[in-house]
Amino acid sequence: MDTYILKIGGSSVTEKDNNKCKAKTDVIRCIATEIKKAKSERSFRLVVVHGAGPFGHKLVTDYGIKDGIRDEKDAEGFVRTHNSMEDLNKIFMDIFREEGLLGFPVQPSACIVQKGGKIERFDTSIVSKLLETSKDIIPILYGDMVIDSKLGASVVSGDAIVPHLAKKLKADRVLMGTDVDGIFTADPKLGRNARLIENISKSNFNEILRSTGEATNVDVTGGMRGKIMRIRDSLVGIPVVIFNITKEGHVYRALMGEKIRSTEIRL
Ligand SMILES: Nc1ncnc2c1ncn2[C@@H]1O[C@H](COP(=O)(O)OP(=O)(O)O)[C@@H](O)[C@H]1O
Ligand SMILES: [Mg+2]
Repeated sequence: MDTYILKIGGSSVTEKDNNKCKAKTDVIRCIATEIKKAKSERSFRLVVVHGAGPFGHKLVTDYGIKDGIRDEKDAEGFVRTHNSMEDLNKIFMDIFREEGLLGFPVQPSACIVQKGGKIERFDTSIVSKLLETSKDIIPILYGDMVIDSKLGASVVSGDAIVPHLAKKLKADRVLMGTDVDGIFTADPKLGRNARLIENISKSNFNEILRSTGEATNVDVTGGMRGKIMRIRDSLVGIPVVIFNITKEGHVYRALMGEKIRSTEIRL
């Protein structure tokens, strides 16, 4: 049975453009119903990783703890950022439950330790066991603040969790949902002439990396550029689809293996 990892970008499910800690519950509900529909029509295992939006980025920026924690105030920021991410995760959990899905929260800060802002240890055995227990259980992870052996604590992005998990679980496909249709020749939010790049392979990767920027809004983890650098570093051999998760029907079609407007990366 295929295993898919679905990343739900923070920009799609929060008021990221206004930098407000508010979830777009209608978008989350739509995603949940589409997962439910796909699950009723074919068998696959699924892991969900959701991003943070302002629930993470705003607090990290306000407390100034992007590069680690040094004093008591920073420690407070670390705890408050984690608390805030749990608030967002709870919104996902409630909606998934209401839509009849077996979402199971897996707290990244309880299974990941970083070193200098990079994952050093990640106990993925809990996620594997959950998937083995039942094909209907959907482990749900999220961007978080975790213990860091060099910096005290640091941010682990959903975009960093996804490739690590995909590799460990030998996922068959990674679906990265974001708020734009994929990777463009330039930031589509800034220029009208941006053109969607439908396929990325080894041969055009470097050229594309040069034209890809960070997010236009507050994102401490590197936006689109951060995403594809992490994909290059760990996802060799696993196909990745970057698509617009705010468009109705896209999650369903992506889970059914149908072609949607997107960027497909095969390295
Ligand atoms: N070349 C590009 N192609 C697509 N998006 C880009 C590009 N350069 C910058 N971006 C920006 O990256 C954003 C996606 O990154 P991010 O906000 O971190 O999404 P997410 O919340 O899904 O992680 C897009 O909304 C877009 O504004
Ligand atoms: Mg992001």
